[in-house]
Amino acid sequence: MAVRLSLLLVVLNQSAKAQDKVLPVIPAPSAMKMQEGKFVIDPTILVIRDSAIKADNLVFFNQYLKDLADIELTTIVTNDASATSNTPVKNHTISLKLDAVAIPEKEGYTLKVSAGQILLTGHDAAGAFYGLQTLVQLMQKTKDGKIEIPACSINDYPRFSYRGMHLDVSRHAFPVAFLKKWIDMLALYKVNTFHWHLTDDQGWRIEIKQYPALQTISSLRAETIIGHKRYDPHRFDGKSYGGYYSQQEVKEIVKYATERHITVIPEIEMPGHAQAALAAYPALGCTDGPYQTATYWGVFDDVYCAGKEQTFSFLEHVLDEVLTLFPSAYIHIGGDECPKTQWKVCPACQERIRKEHLKDEHELQSYFIRRMEKYLESKGRKIIGWDEILEGGLAPSATVMSWRGLEGGIAAAKMHHDVIMTPEKYVYLDYYQSLYGGEQLAAGGYTPLSKVYGYEPVPEELNAEEAKYIKGVQANAWSEYLSSPEKAEYMLFPRMFALAEIAWTRKDIRNYPDFLKRLRRQENMLAVLNINRFRYYDEITSMKSLKNGKPELTLHTDMPGGVIRYTTNGKTPEPTSPIYTTPIIISQTGEIRAAVFGEGSDPARVFKQQFVYSKSTGKKITLFKKTAVNFTPENPRALLNGIQGSPFYNDGEWTGFSGDDLEVLIDLEQQTQISALGINILKYHWQKMWEPDVIRFEISDDGKKYTEVYRQNTFTAEGVNKVRANISPLKARYIRVTAVNKGVIPEGEYGAGGKAMLLADEILVN
Ligand code: ACM
Ligand code: ZN
Repeated sequence: MAVRLSLLLVVLNQSAKAQDKVLPVIPAPSAMKMQEGKFVIDPTILVIRDSAIKADNLVFFNQYLKDLADIELTTIVTNDASATSNTPVKNHTISLKLDAVAIPEKEGYTLKVSAGQILLTGHDAAGAFYGLQTLVQLMQKTKDGKIEIPACSINDYPRFSYRGMHLDVSRHAFPVAFLKKWIDMLALYKVNTFHWHLTDDQGWRIEIKQYPALQTISSLRAETIIGHKRYDPHRFDGKSYGGYYSQQEVKEIVKYATERHITVIPEIEMPGHAQAALAAYPALGCTDGPYQTATYWGVFDDVYCAGKEQTFSFLEHVLDEVLTLFPSAYIHIGGDECPKTQWKVCPACQERIRKEHLKDEHELQSYFIRRMEKYLESKGRKIIGWDEILEGGLAPSATVMSWRGLEGGIAAAKMHHDVIMTPEKYVYLDYYQSLYGGEQLAAGGYTPLSKVYGYEPVPEELNAEEAKYIKGVQANAWSEYLSSPEKAEYMLFPRMFALAEIAWTRKDIRNYPDFLKRLRRQENMLAVLNINRFRYYDEITSMKSLKNGKPELTLHTDMPGGVIRYTTNGKTPEPTSPIYTTPIIISQTGEIRAAVFGEGSDPARVFKQQFVYSKSTGKKITLFKKTAVNFTPENPRALLNGIQGSPFYNDGEWTGFSGDDLEVLIDLEQQTQISALGINILKYHWQKMWEPDVIRFEISDDGKKYTEVYRQNTFTAEGVNKVRANISPLKARYIRVTAVNKGVIPEGEYGAGGKAMLLADEILVN
């Protein structure tokens, strides 16, 4: 026993030593060298601050010293204009200087830590501030209560000038104290922009003194939907929800952020996502109401009327007050998800279209945005909006936030407009970060840490000149499911750290395994900061493919030294279960379970993947219609890969068609006895996912002449409809499956008038 224990200690010591070689700084600095020795911070250390650097810069640094080791340092201010990064400094000191010549990059800094002293030089105050954040991340508490910083030399500056995090406070709001904690985290990770989403259908959250009903009506909703919107019928909690930030609080937040070199960009949504405002001021809508602050999530038809002059004067007055609170160059005017349903039938909107010689409602939206741009420009500000502002013509100086994909950003950059990339597929932090069961409720996408980290903000489609218009990248945190600060933190961290690194760190030095090493080294700091973070980023991820007609499951964990053990009999893996080494070939129906075993692992977290085998598994398939962007599986044969898509629809298994039919041809490669057919259809009307009008299965011997063998036109289940048909046994080689899309979403339904989505997975033949 004693021998084993000492062996274990050796192993632990070795792994600790190996890890120590990594400086735990996120985002990774441009250049960093470790040296021998360390600087010890004790209460006798003197901080010497160049007067060009404000005391505010040190607030966060000092606070962390206090929280970590109850140390308070004395600071003296020098006014030594001749000091440069090469001027010698006294021992036992932390010196802060500015030197824009030695450090030419904006927001850049150098940090020299030796046993005797720390010398931090910033290009500007922001650079000095970021150097301090790096220092905070380097602090290690020793057993005797001191703080050590490893000797090192760092030269660092950002890749992008815009490094953003968005937070929605409409769907759920957060206390001012949480916002400050959140801003501290942005600062610590060198994120310099806080995009504050202040208004939406479910609540108006900023005090506007000229319009008191925004406070008394728009900031409140009668109740809130429980669970996912997709469930039909909706269930509500019956509890009134509301609140708003007073102008005093807004000022406090903006000041707090400014002290941390963070620009706060307010978003006042228009012309869509306006229902809360309309509830208080129904005359601003096309139908004059009555309207209600929304109680569930989604996109709503009632938007600001673009025909009435009073809409514009209302928004201008609102913005007048907003401008007094936010000094940012940019004002975000939203612009996304504005249905044109009401505008199409509103006399005032139609009159505007005629009078302004506009082609259609898209040009009316463009008119709306251009008019607001002109107004804000007259006040010395610039507009930024979601990529829908491209539709109907982009306002002359607008900056585009590309969220639906990369296309909006590419188009805007090619038109020489500034762009912030924020594509939902990669950087929406309200989406699930794990496909394991038991995660807290989240929006239906899947953006694990690795996917956020792997996102490259400059699209390949741009040439070097166009690429210059990509000013930065931002991750978005919509708060439908972030119903408490704890839940918000769980979704934001650590994915926000990945965002910070892709925004700050040069592409050529980004490295995911290295990032994870640094992240693990930050666990102590994050615990001191009391951050409720997702810790399972080492959990098993899988890749599903087909090889020689058979499904193959590749498993992966990023845990250093982590061993994956698995079972094929549906049992929980144990320390004696087989070790996973090569991809598992699936030859029959069953379930693979797997777990990671290793230091710090949680074998109770079990990866599960079911396979359903049939005569069509792994066979050739041809798709005749274009699949929808968000429902195009990586594996073109996902319909026949032995895996059935889950009701969460975020596992990459569902093949989807927006308005189009499903039309596929399967080649079984030889005459095959067939007696059963199947397909799964996902139906969630509240998610615009509709059952088809009809599904037909046809078979053929020669691929020319087809005979229909089964059809079905009712699909009653909410969620996954398992179409399963027994037919009189016969032989055939080819199977044609057609599912006719509902087409246009019917009147009275969510998204009425828009295209229905048809989702299908796993065609079974037996
Ligand atoms: C958005 O996600 N609607 C910008
Ligand atoms: Zn109207």
